[in-house]
Amino acid sequence: MNGITGRMGYRQHLLRSILPLRETGLTLEDGTKVAIEPILIGRNAAKVRELAELHNVEHWSTDLDAVIADPTVDVVFDASMTSLRAATLKKAMANGKHIFTEKPTAETLEEAIELARVAQDAGITAGVVHDKLYLPGLVKLRRLVEEGFFGRILSIRGEFGYWVFEGDHQEAQRPSWNYRKEDGGGMTTDMFCHWNYVLEGIIGKVKSVNAKTATHIPARWDEQGVEYKATADDAAYGIFELETPAGDPVIGQINSSWAVRVYRDELVEFQIDGTHGSAVAGLRKCLSQQRANTPKPVWNPDLPVTEPFREQWAEVPANAELDNGFKLQWEEFLRDVVAGREHRFGLLSAARGVQLAELGLQSSAERRTLDIPKIEL
Ligand SMILES: NC(=O)c1ccc[n+]([C@@H]2O[C@H](COP(=O)([O-])OP(=O)(O)OC[C@H]3O[C@@H](n4cnc5c(N)ncnc54)[C@H](O)[C@@H]3O)[C@@H](O)[C@H]2O)c1
Repeated sequence: MNGITGRMGYRQHLLRSILPLRETGLTLEDGTKVAIEPILIGRNAAKVRELAELHNVEHWSTDLDAVIADPTVDVVFDASMTSLRAATLKKAMANGKHIFTEKPTAETLEEAIELARVAQDAGITAGVVHDKLYLPGLVKLRRLVEEGFFGRILSIRGEFGYWVFEGDHQEAQRPSWNYRKEDGGGMTTDMFCHWNYVLEGIIGKVKSVNAKTATHIPARWDEQGVEYKATADDAAYGIFELETPAGDPVIGQINSSWAVRVYRDELVEFQIDGTHGSAVAGLRKCLSQQRANTPKPVWNPDLPVTEPFREQWAEVPANAELDNGFKLQWEEFLRDVVAGREHRFGLLSAARGVQLAELGLQSSAERRTLDIPKIEL
């Protein structure tokens, strides 16, 4: 596990996924248990050792290459800085390892496609974090789509983001490299790869993108309290043309911003509107409104609002135990590894995410809508 001293690597992958799985083992479809034993890897020996001791992990190292070359290692995981990822993954696959990785898989589409090709040729199982699709809120939203709740789907809109402090008076809650383009940072690069699989997974293919990016906050302060120039975009306003598997057109629109204050119930929310119903999903909750329960507001600025709009939605029940999304995907991925089959969210889907981010940035720079070509391996 490379990059476990980082935010995602530590919290979501080590703490929430692999350590609990080490405790219970992974149960396969036929009831067999598979033992999971992590090896922690990082550049800073003191930090990695401290984490290993804290969590009773026997194996740790600062030598990524040696661990990748170790024939007893089955899976290489990467949650390190984005700009270092492609090289690590390529090395791992060349050594015949299965890989599980954070997104984005690469900084350029070319590199992302190359990774997908390498995986295909190597015949290994590759998994890329598609965590949002495992979130209880989005699982419920997807279920409504599958059940035909919406009738003909017209649109999906997403609102994502929160205020990330500049770091001068109050510490920033995200790493400084996120705001430096030269270090692989940027809202579009970071989030459009998520939005691609969310849109694909809930509605269907993304056919085109029109985006406007912005760097609203031009200067920030890093982990050492030193002021730096924010060279990456910290907001992206995107419009997407989508197509359902039945071929119906749907309009998608997602605002992503690190310079917005939250007046929502959750940090990300998606709303689908259809001819027969609408639903709003956050990370956990999903609320729905059927056509029959839809109020008929009349525009009259002279009168106070007459409808309690928020109260007119009904909560969609989970009807199942929905665990942490990262852990659920890890379990599914590891079952695929043991079974020697493909994982449903691999490097090709990830490449489409990188493609959407790249075209989003290009669309903004050129101030035009761009069609999204199909990627062939
Ligand atoms: N799935 C998600 O929702 C999600 C959310 C946030 C970030 N991410 C992805 O996870 C990855 C890690 O992001 P994070 O927020 O945990 O970042 P982070 O800065 O907290 O962690 C980065 C890790 O990389 C290591 N690293 C190695 N070489 C480095 C170098 N030269 N400079 C700086 N760090 C170096 C750090 O020690 C650390 O372990 C990124 O690729 C990011 O895109 C995914």
